[in-house]
Amino acid sequence: MKTDGGSIQRYTVAERITHWLIAIVFVYLMLTGLALFTPHLFWLSSVMGGPTTSRIWHPILGLIYVLFLLRMFLNWRRDMKIDAGDKAWLNDVKKYIRNEDEGLPEAGRFNAGQKQLFWLQVIAGLLLLLSGIPLWFPESFGEALRLFAILVHEIAALSVIGGIIVHVYMGAAVVRGSVRAMLSGIVTRSWAKTHHPKWYREIMSRE
Ligand code: HEM
Repeated sequence: MKTDGGSIQRYTVAERITHWLIAIVFVYLMLTGLALFTPHLFWLSSVMGGPTTSRIWHPILGLIYVLFLLRMFLNWRRDMKIDAGDKAWLNDVKKYIRNEDEGLPEAGRFNAGQKQLFWLQVIAGLLLLLSGIPLWFPESFGEALRLFAILVHEIAALSVIGGIIVHVYMGAAVVRGSVRAMLSGIVTRSWAKTHHPKWYREIMSRE
């Protein structure tokens, strides 16, 4: 990661493109998935081009989502390794929620909460793919397997949606400067020092 004057590069162009493509496809999958999930939200399918269109495109976009997720996994897997410091950070997570980063154990490029979200997305993405296949081609599978696949698909999807609600809230409302980081790739030195002090020191020692 390069540093330039008062700013530090947090995300490369490739990382940002992958992230925003995932975000766009995720919103489509969430809306069409919720429409197929419950009759109460079936009306969403008309907003998404109709029930047939939703049924055809949901699994195709699902495959594309998993491919982007694989790219994200390859981009960030090294920085997302959970270490001993992350446990201490999680014990103090209330301070993070209150935006009191000063009292927290020092975070590296990603904090333990961000790492948890990453692994939740990766594991749930895999489960959504595996359970999605019997739902895509129901006539090729037995009823017991199909019912089990529905259960796994729904639990994984609701976990991912819950995780992303927290993620968007933390990024957009709590940690100021995060959205700018994901849009421009750049953060200020003071942002890096406040939110990711261990990462900040690593970057500075490389200069
Ligand atoms: C839907 C709208 C989304 C918004 C507004 C959003 C926003 C952001 C922002 C602002 C960051 C930078 C955080 C930082 O550097 O401190 C970020 C990072 C990240 N995003 Fe998203 N995101 C969205 C969707 C997603 C989805 C669907 C996924 C995964 C499937 C995802 C996974 C990640 C991961 C793993 C990171 C790096 C670690 C983290 O900050 O949690 N995001 N996102």
